[in-house]
Amino acid sequence: MKPLVAALTKGRLSEDAINLFGRAGILSPGMKSALEKKSRRLIFSSADSDLRLFLAKAPDVPTYVDYGAADVGVAGKDTLMEGRRNLYEVLDLGFGACTMAVAGPESERDRLKRGNNLRVATKYPHIALDYFVRRKQQTVEIIMLSGSVELAPIIGLSDVIVDIVETGNTLRENGLTVLEEIASISARLVVNRASMKIERERIALLIKKLKAVLP
Ligand code: PRP
Repeated sequence: MKPLVAALTKGRLSEDAINLFGRAGILSPGMKSALEKKSRRLIFSSADSDLRLFLAKAPDVPTYVDYGAADVGVAGKDTLMEGRRNLYEVLDLGFGACTMAVAGPESERDRLKRGNNLRVATKYPHIALDYFVRRKQQTVEIIMLSGSVELAPIIGLSDVIVDIVETGNTLRENGLTVLEEIASISARLVVNRASMKIERERIALLIKKLKAVLP
């Protein structure tokens, strides 16, 4: 039988995902300890070859699942909102909780309410445009960055940012604050649309095992 293929997000979410899959009995102890070794290995298979699991960069997980290269994936809601792929989002896994927010200096709060032509720096251009144009009917200029977005309003590249806020430490330590909240974020289990039919039983069992160990 072909293995069920799962894509996990490398980095921040991987430890929690591996722990959850371990608790749910989806990973054997051997596979779990192989995954926990800080090696450069990317693909892991169960001893019975029933499950194949790989680690990919966050924005690539929905791509693998959309194309059917993975049947299921674990990705942050931020990545899913930004990627806009046509996947089934079947389970909120709870970990990786944070907030997608507009942040900036307190002095921008009033202009942000109604003003137009704000410059918004972000790693999430689709989420930012959707929020400002569709939800708030404000015109904005989106400036795409790839990291340390908090720099932009401090250095004068943008007025505000759209980014995830977890502890709030990065904002606080840089004199910035949350000005508006856009969405609650956490890790989600996503499923390829064809796999949902073809692998219905195995995926249903996977979801059941995960649900059983979720708080
Ligand atoms: C994320 C995010 C914020 C920070 C928020 O960045 O983009 O910068 O974490 O976390 P906090 O509220 O707990 O401070 P990440 O660490 O992924 O790095 P990056 O900015 O280089 O993308």
